Amino acid sequence: MDSLKIKGGRPLKGDVEISGAKNAALPVMAAALLTGGAHSLKRIPNLRDIATMGKLLSYMGAEYHYDQGAVTLETSRIKKHEAPYDLVKTMRAAVLVLGPLVARFGNASVSLPGGCAIGARPINLHLMGLEKMGARITLESGYVHARASRLKGATICFDMPTVTGTENLMMAACLAKGTTVLENAAREPEIVDLADCLAAMGAKIYGAGESTIEIQGVDELRPIAAYAVIPDRIETGTFMAIAAACAGDVTLKGCRPDHLDSVIMKFKDAGVAFHETKKGLRVVGPRRLTARDIKTTPYPGFPTDMQAQFMAMMTVALGTSVVKETIFENRYMHVAELKRMGADISIEGGIATIRGTEKLKGAPIMATDLRASASLVVAALCARGESIIHRIYHLDRGYDHMDEKLRGIGAQVERIKSS
Ligand code: EPU
Repeated sequence: MDSLKIKGGRPLKGDVEISGAKNAALPVMAAALLTGGAHSLKRIPNLRDIATMGKLLSYMGAEYHYDQGAVTLETSRIKKHEAPYDLVKTMRAAVLVLGPLVARFGNASVSLPGGCAIGARPINLHLMGLEKMGARITLESGYVHARASRLKGATICFDMPTVTGTENLMMAACLAKGTTVLENAAREPEIVDLADCLAAMGAKIYGAGESTIEIQGVDELRPIAAYAVIPDRIETGTFMAIAAACAGDVTLKGCRPDHLDSVIMKFKDAGVAFHETKKGLRVVGPRRLTARDIKTTPYPGFPTDMQAQFMAMMTVALGTSVVKETIFENRYMHVAELKRMGADISIEGGIATIRGTEKLKGAPIMATDLRASASLVVAALCARGESIIHRIYHLDRGYDHMDEKLRGIGAQVERIKSS
């Protein structure tokens, strides 16, 4: 497994081109299963998770091709309606094929995702919704089987907003008979992006981005024609955190600051300056950050996917900050690693208290999940001395050429290939 050697404390200055959003690209790729034909997708990031979704669609019988952000998919000859264990275990988002498969073919078998590094992450709400739409759901040998001759529109109220749950049911409802109403739906920009893509395919969706979404089922959809996904707001936020923690001056090109309102507000409060320029969003970190508290909540609140990176920033801030994670019960795996670098963090009752220190010190550290890895990169870049981040395959799952982008702004970063 590759590792990343980072020499911290270098001044970071320059431009970073933001890639397409992983969590927008994955559902849009799954949406290609809703109808046969030649699909074309643009601005798809070059990531391990995208390759895994490509592998899954190919396994089912699709022809998948990736070339520098452009994806083509031919989905006329889908033979297997199944997401096997080996693929689901490496990427939970594989569950996104469930809704499209039942809607188009009337049956689907998807390996039930287990718990993962950040929490239990059940899919009961996806299944509850499909059942309400008339699917028969059974569980056998670790697989969820869903069957329905044709899904029927229904009113579905989520106990809590779920991003992939909303996406799965929104896709399924496009081909259902009648109208589906999703209440307490997730409102993330990736939901709006998927709805825009589905609408371009001929779906009738109203209210995406609000907590009630109405979908009027249609008999058929068109293939996706050159749809470009939105820029990655979490990649954007991660580079913002890097500039913020390292007193950097970094311009983020091709990003959507309006998708990061809650994050930008909190960063400003902590002393980070933002300037919207012709080139992009310029982020200037202060000599020293001021400690601020956060609580993660569904969009438009502070995203759980930015919690670890914000905590890394706070380890070197002036004062004490309190971080409360409310979405995933176990998303503090980065804490032990940050402590190995000299961070002063304690956790009690699911709340982390971070007492800022002047400087972290480089150390060998271990990446445990995607965003935890990103927080270690933030910490290593602002630490004194050298850090080696092991197991960066987690980072490669969700960050498009992060090491190259970091070198582009003056960071001393080297990828050590595993033998
Ligand atoms: N939940 C349930 N039952 C369900 C579904 C969700 O109890 O059936 C709970 C979860 O356990 C969690 C909460 O609802 O406590 C919200 O989870 P959600 O379903 O929204 O998460 P997700 O759809 O599995 C997506 C992103 C995650 C991101 C979360 C929250 C994708 C592919 N993944 O996951 O991204 O953290 O929403 O915003 O869109 C990442 O990119 O690193 C990542 C983990």
